[in-house]
Amino acid sequence: MKQLQRQSGTRRDEDIPISQTSLYSPKALKHPKSLSRSISYLLKEQRLLFILVGILIGSTFFILQPSLYHLSSGTHNHLIARSNSFAGNRESITYYDHNGVMETNSVENKNNYKYHNGGRVPVGIGRKRKRIVVTGGAGFVGSHLVDKLIARGDDVIVIDNFFTGRKENVVHLFGNPRFELIRHDVVEPILLEVDQIYHLACPASPVHYKYNPVKNIKTNVMGTLNMLGLAKRIGARFLLTSTSEVYGDPLEHPQKETYWGHVNPIGVRSCYDEGKRTAETLTMDYHRGAGIEVRIARIFNTYGPRMCLDDGRVVSNFVSQVIRKQPMTVYGDGKQTRSFQYVSDLVDGLVALMENEHVGPFNLGNPGEFTMLELAEVCPT
Ligand SMILES: NC(=O)c1ccc[n+]([C@@H]2O[C@H](COP(=O)([O-])OP(=O)(O)OC[C@H]3O[C@@H](n4cnc5c(N)ncnc54)[C@H](O)[C@@H]3O)[C@@H](O)[C@H]2O)c1
Repeated sequence: MKQLQRQSGTRRDEDIPISQTSLYSPKALKHPKSLSRSISYLLKEQRLLFILVGILIGSTFFILQPSLYHLSSGTHNHLIARSNSFAGNRESITYYDHNGVMETNSVENKNNYKYHNGGRVPVGIGRKRKRIVVTGGAGFVGSHLVDKLIARGDDVIVIDNFFTGRKENVVHLFGNPRFELIRHDVVEPILLEVDQIYHLACPASPVHYKYNPVKNIKTNVMGTLNMLGLAKRIGARFLLTSTSEVYGDPLEHPQKETYWGHVNPIGVRSCYDEGKRTAETLTMDYHRGAGIEVRIARIFNTYGPRMCLDDGRVVSNFVSQVIRKQPMTVYGDGKQTRSFQYVSDLVDGLVALMENEHVGPFNLGNPGEFTMLELAEVCPT
């Protein structure tokens, strides 16, 4: 019993018998002869020569690599990198012009690097990623704008109450870490931290805004107030999507931004037209009074994928009648004219307006006018 206690109380290294410690001997030092043996081994069968040739090839490759990269970028005008985006399997392409400035999609690759003319640059050294709110981002124009901003590499938060917008318009972005969707009515305030606000929330077609005119005025007035208040609080830049309808029943053709319009405050369309005029007034007063950076776009007729087929507008009417194999309806003699711009052109214009210094108002549309008969003729039957 005593012996056991003593063993557990003593340190192990103190108890090792001398006879055992003397058995240990450190590994013998290599004999100097082994060095000369290694050298003779290297010299034998030209092994040294092979090693030197390998080093030469390796260093030549690393020295020449940047100039090779430069040469290839000079011959190919644009395309630099192609990689899978975060959004599912859709492949995105990054374009740069001759100066190395990004033109469209900016996508990180697996190794978290961006490519440009001068070689590979770690993410974070390039353009600062912006956080952007798009109200009405699940609608026709909004969803295309969101696509462009996400492809450019920004973080986008969509606010939408899905009155006319649809989740299908943005479903391809679900799961993308740079995309967020909030079901929210802009008539109620919201607090977010962002750099830019694109304020689109408002139904654009008469069928939809006439459905609840008072709600439409609230959306235009209170919704715009809330978004301007947010912009003021967080110091964000604000863009309002207004409309060519602010010119009313114009007496000037084509309308310049300096024209004040020929308007009707009491008609059935006034909830939209006057609502947008008030939204413009609020925007300019926040700009002048509170120093907010604002932009105003006056949008003319726009068409493209994801527009609502039953919104009563002429392009969607014709398209839906073609799809349903029905005869096309042309009102009057069909000689009345309209202008139509494609949605991607509008989205390019909105982003250019936001990024540049022009406050606006700024007309965005196609300067060319077409008769309804001309439009009907280009529709396949
Ligand atoms: N499409 C055009 O030809 C055209 C022409 C002139 C102006 N605009 C303007 O462009 C913007 C977008 O138009 P669009 O054609 O995409 O219309 P749209 O109806 O397809 O999209 C509007 C979006 O706003 C959402 N929304 C409506 N009220 C809201 C509310 N109170 N809170 C939150 N979300 C709300 C809708 O659900 C929808 O997603 C609108 O401001 C419109 O006035 C469009």
